[in-house]
Amino acid sequence: RDIEPVVFVIFGASGDLTRRKLIPAIYDLFKCKLLPENFALLGVSRSKLSDDDFRQKAFLNNELFDISEEPAETVEAFAKLLFYQPIDTNSSDDYAKVKSRLDQLDGEFKTAGNFVFYLSTPPVLYDKIPAFLSAHGLNRCEGSFRRLVIEKPFGYDSQSARELNKSLTEYFPEDEIYRIDHYLGKETVQNLLVTRFANSVFEPLWNRNYIQHVQITSAEPIGVGNRGGYYDESGALRDMLQNHLMQIVAHIAMEPPISPSAEAIRAEKSKLFQSLRPIAESEVAKYCIRGQYMASKMRGEMVKGYREEEGVPSESKTETYAAVKFFIDNWRWSGVPFYIRTGKRLPTKVTEVAITFDRPPHKIFRTDQDLHLAHNQLVMRIQPDEGLLLSFGMKVPGEGFDVKNVGMDFHYSDLAEADVPEAYERLLLDCIKGDPTLYAHGDSVEYSWKFVEPILKAWKNDDSIPVYGYPAGSWGPELADDLIEPAEITWRNPCRKLTEDTS
Ligand code: BG6
Repeated sequence: RDIEPVVFVIFGASGDLTRRKLIPAIYDLFKCKLLPENFALLGVSRSKLSDDDFRQKAFLNNELFDISEEPAETVEAFAKLLFYQPIDTNSSDDYAKVKSRLDQLDGEFKTAGNFVFYLSTPPVLYDKIPAFLSAHGLNRCEGSFRRLVIEKPFGYDSQSARELNKSLTEYFPEDEIYRIDHYLGKETVQNLLVTRFANSVFEPLWNRNYIQHVQITSAEPIGVGNRGGYYDESGALRDMLQNHLMQIVAHIAMEPPISPSAEAIRAEKSKLFQSLRPIAESEVAKYCIRGQYMASKMRGEMVKGYREEEGVPSESKTETYAAVKFFIDNWRWSGVPFYIRTGKRLPTKVTEVAITFDRPPHKIFRTDQDLHLAHNQLVMRIQPDEGLLLSFGMKVPGEGFDVKNVGMDFHYSDLAEADVPEAYERLLLDCIKGDPTLYAHGDSVEYSWKFVEPILKAWKNDDSIPVYGYPAGSWGPELADDLIEPAEITWRNPCRKLTEDTS
């Protein structure tokens, strides 16, 4: 696909995300010569900065991105592509300044009227900025592309997600709206599809006949830090499960798409999301566990409890841990339980999927009472130590037929091309190229809200559902172990290294 010239416009350009993710990713693309030759970047925000101030703040003196080792000519050439326009983002009139700046840059850099508008702003502006762009004729242009990129949250519940989709599509067609879910930019999340659909060994087993259950764990050792205000309105379900983890579920569980095109993948994901069995509000207590981290010693250091964090009310009920058991009502997955858990202040940073296969139908050999031994397991590690681990039973050398569990593992770091690109790099490049495959579609966002909504409602309205405290540094409320059946089976407790397991 030819890459067309473009002006990349970032609203909210003086914010953290621009310095932490966007500028580093766009610089790397520039350095690797992946950007179009005719390219300029316009930062737009409230702060009164000049072009030069912005170059310093966002790039040359960016404390979140170290360029000290970068080649001086590349740094200098990139800095010249950065521009800035201060406006009051809430005032429609001010968008005339954006328009005239864009006209000027478009002429100077010969960008053919192609603009990408990236909203790195608080979500309250997601309704307004597209309307203001439209009022100044910036949202559409015959013969040029105009794209809109937004960051999560895409709504707060089903209704607000629907309203947001409706308002966005009033100004930009759906296929020019790019909803970033940075998990879809992760190589290993994409690799879930390749593992399943580029091999013939896994897919015949990938169904209710051979899979006993599926576990997805996404753990972080950090607390909410200085994001208490945001997080308390959000919680683990909205922050991680509704978006990132549901996308992983889709990659694990969807039917094979006819091609890797955006449309084909979207069609399969959409079917999958529609097959999720909603958890009735009355059953939430049975299928979902919520928890909050409590002050505790973690790695030798005392850390605060969630309710003591800055910006968090002292009687907050917001979950920093969520575990959910659910089913997918379709031909392939009928009766197979899926378990997801995610949380802050857990022992380690890890995201992985563990597929547990059924035991052999007839037990011939003695195992050492450990029932895990009899279940083959495929662990697909999203991060860190990205890779795959297949565990199975082997004969213990010597007399008799004792069986021991062993693992076959693959690590991305062993590949020659192991330099895994940052998620934002891949996603921004795709958007500039006009490839929405790795972006969330409006439909799937609405479907996954529909799925989590009864849980959110029950947790909000039913005071009899406990918020379990768990010590920082533990694997969350012990009760979450009981979600998994049969009783002898439990969560895999992963370490940073794929091949180690603390359980
Ligand atoms: C973000 C959440 O979307 O994802 C954060 O808002 C979370 O709370 C982060 O820490 C996790 O992303 P990653 O790529 O570090 O796993």
